[in-house]
Amino acid sequence: MKHWAFTIALLLWAAASAWAQAPGAAPQAVQTDIPSIYKTLAGYFPVGAAIDPADLSGPHEQMLTMHFDGITSTNEMKWSSIEPAQGRFEFGPADRGVELALSHKMRVRGHTLVYATGQQTPSYAFGDGTNSAANQAIVIANIREHIQSEVQHFGDKVYAWDVVNEPFDPSQADCLAHGPFYQVLGKSYIDVAFQAAREYAPAGTKLFINDYSTNEPNRLGCLLKVVGDLRARGIPIDGVGHQMHNAINYPSVPAMENAIETVRSQFPGLDQQITELDVSVYNGGDTKSNYGRSIPASVLAEQGWLYKSTFDLFRRLKGKISAVTLWGIADDDTWLDRFPVVRTEYPLPFDRQLQAKPAYWGIVDETRLPGYGLKFSAAAAKTQSDTRTITVTATNGDAGPAYASQIKSIGLRPVSAEPRCAAAVSAPASFPVSLGDIPTSGTAAVSIAVTLRGCDPHTRFAFTAAWSSATYETGTFSTTLDIDGDSGEPRR
Ligand code: XIL
Repeated sequence: MKHWAFTIALLLWAAASAWAQAPGAAPQAVQTDIPSIYKTLAGYFPVGAAIDPADLSGPHEQMLTMHFDGITSTNEMKWSSIEPAQGRFEFGPADRGVELALSHKMRVRGHTLVYATGQQTPSYAFGDGTNSAANQAIVIANIREHIQSEVQHFGDKVYAWDVVNEPFDPSQADCLAHGPFYQVLGKSYIDVAFQAAREYAPAGTKLFINDYSTNEPNRLGCLLKVVGDLRARGIPIDGVGHQMHNAINYPSVPAMENAIETVRSQFPGLDQQITELDVSVYNGGDTKSNYGRSIPASVLAEQGWLYKSTFDLFRRLKGKISAVTLWGIADDDTWLDRFPVVRTEYPLPFDRQLQAKPAYWGIVDETRLPGYGLKFSAAAAKTQSDTRTITVTATNGDAGPAYASQIKSIGLRPVSAEPRCAAAVSAPASFPVSLGDIPTSGTAAVSIAVTLRGCDPHTRFAFTAAWSSATYETGTFSTTLDIDGDSGEPRR
C-alpha cells in the first residue's frame, strides 16, 4: 500500500472507531442491579417485547431475557419473510428467535399470518389481484397453504397468532380495509385465514385479530362490528390485540380503558392483549418535530409519568388483559425512527445505551420518577382588612426535577355555613399558574390574592388546589386555612 493510501486508511479507521465510541453509538453495560420488568409485573400479566435478529446476542439478548418473558418477531414471521416465493420457506431467522425464547421459558406470539393491507406480503399471494372465480380459488388456496405451512412449522412453540393484522378501516361502509386480499375475496379472506389457522394450529392456540388506534370511537366501532360478525358466523377468533402505538399526548388513559372495557362488555370471554406498545415523544399527527440526539429531560420525565399512568391502567385491568408486549426494548432500535418520517425517536423504556429511562421507572417503580413526592402546603396572611394572600408552596422530593409544575385551579369556600361570606380571587387573573421546573428537593411558591366579602372573623376556609407536573403527575391538595384578623367588610 502506498504511504498516502495507508494514511487515509488509518484516518478512516480512526474516524470510524471514534464514531463507534461516540455517545449514543455504543451500548454501555447492561444495568443488572435494577428490577426486571416482567418479574415486577408477574402478578398481573406477562410482558413481552418485539425483537429483531440483533436482539438475539450480546447486551440486547441480556436485556431481552432479563426484562421480558415473551417475544414477538417484528418482521421475521411475516409472509414476505417466511415464504418470499411460493413454496420457498425461510424459517431460519424466526426459528432463532423462537429457540432463544423457549430456552429462557419465554412465550412466543406469532405475528402475523395475513397482513390486511398487503404490507410485507409477496404479490404472488394475491394471484392476479382480481375477484374472478378462478383467482378467488387461487388466493384461498394461497392463504390456506401459507397458514398451514407456517403454523405447522412452529406448532406449539407459538401460543398465539395475529391471524389477521390491521383489517379495520372506518372510512369504509363495511369497516374493512379494502386491501389486496379484500379486493379478491371481500370480507371472506378473514374467515379463510381464521379457519385455516384453527384447522392447522395445535388445539388451544389463541387466534387474534390485531389492529391500531382501537381507542378511537370509529375504529372501536368497526372492531365491535367486525368481531361481532365473525363470532355470529362461528369464525374461530379467540382474542383482540390492541397495538397501542401511542404518543406523548394521545390517547388519554380513559380512552384506552374504554376500548378494553367496551370490548369486554360486548364480548365477555374474548381474550385481549396489548400487543405493540410504544410511546412516541412527539404529539400524535406531528410529523415535523425532531429532537435529534438532544431530547429534553423534561420530555423524558413526562413520558415516564405517562408510562406510569398507562401501566397503572394495565394493572387495574388485571384479568381482563392476558399480556402486554412492547414494540421493542430500547431506543437504539425502534421502527419509529423511520415511521411516519425519518427522525430520532425515544419511545421505549431504555435509552440508546440501554440504560433505564424514566419510562422504565414508570413501569416498575414510580418513586424513581423525576418529581415523585411533590408535596403542597398553603398559608394565608392578612394584607388589608378585607384582603388576604394565600401562599401555596410546592416542595419537591429527591427523585429528580418536577418539570412544568403548575396549579391548574383552586377552590376556596368557608367551612361553616355563612351564606353571605364569599372569597373572590383577584390575582392571578387566570389559571393554570406556573410553578416552573422545581429542582430536586427544591421548592417553588405562588401567591394568590383573595378578597373577602361578608365573612365572620376567624372564618375557616376549605382550600383545594388541583396541580400537575410533567403533565401526567397530578393531584389535588386540600387543607383548611385559618384566615386571621377581622372579617372582610363589616357585615351589613
Ligand atoms: C413494523 C416493523 O416494526 C418495522 O421494522 C417494519 O419495517 C414495518 O413493520 N403495526 C404492526 C407491525 O402490526 O407489524 C409493524 O411493524 C408496526 C405497526
